[in-house]
Amino acid sequence: MIVSPSLLSADFAHLSRDIEMLNRSSCDWFHLDVMDGVFVPNISFGFPVMKAIAQYAGKPLDVHLMIVEPQKFVGEVAALGAKIMNVHYEACTHLHRVISQIHDAGMMAGVTLNPATPVSVLEDIICDVDLVLLMSVNPGFGGQKFIDATPEKCRRLRELIQRKGAKALIQIDGGVNRTTAPLLADVGADCLVAGNAIFKADNPQEEISFLKSLSQ
Ligand code: DX5
Ligand code: ZN
Repeated sequence: MIVSPSLLSADFAHLSRDIEMLNRSSCDWFHLDVMDGVFVPNISFGFPVMKAIAQYAGKPLDVHLMIVEPQKFVGEVAALGAKIMNVHYEACTHLHRVISQIHDAGMMAGVTLNPATPVSVLEDIICDVDLVLLMSVNPGFGGQKFIDATPEKCRRLRELIQRKGAKALIQIDGGVNRTTAPLLADVGADCLVAGNAIFKADNPQEEISFLKSLSQ
């Protein structure tokens, strides 16, 4: 299992401490949640903070943009040295073009679906993307309750990927914890994002190891 802790739940007053903890842990990527107060009803952090994180991050950056017009920022995300630029399906009128721009900038292209957006909208684009992120909460805040319909949706996405012979990884984000993570591993999730379950735990590294130990 690929584990991508969400720094939205980190202690921003002690960010370097939390980054060092992740660097020492068995996690794979750093998940960075960018919110603009327009696409989602919250504002998180932007490029100055991500540049600071990038300087100390010992793992690849997985940038999840919950913003309108994400295509405007392909160059800035690439300049961070990010591995993955993830845009919302609902925020891209010309998704195929945005994915090409992300690839041209040398990054993996991810597409995120909100809970109400069906997997079927990916039918004609699934072979072009490297990762699909299914939101298992409505985006905007950490620490929300997992939407129970997500494992079934993940199973349908796995079917679509197999039917099309696509290579996209499946990532799940929101309310992932010790109870919900095994359900997601069972239905073919490749990558789990977790914020509160990791950063609010007594032993964050142990939580990361637990998530890492899950397999399909
Ligand atoms: C939600 C963000 C998530 C969130 C996950 O809008 O995309 O990455 O921070 O946090 P938890 O794991 O606490 O639900
Ligand atoms: Zn996220």
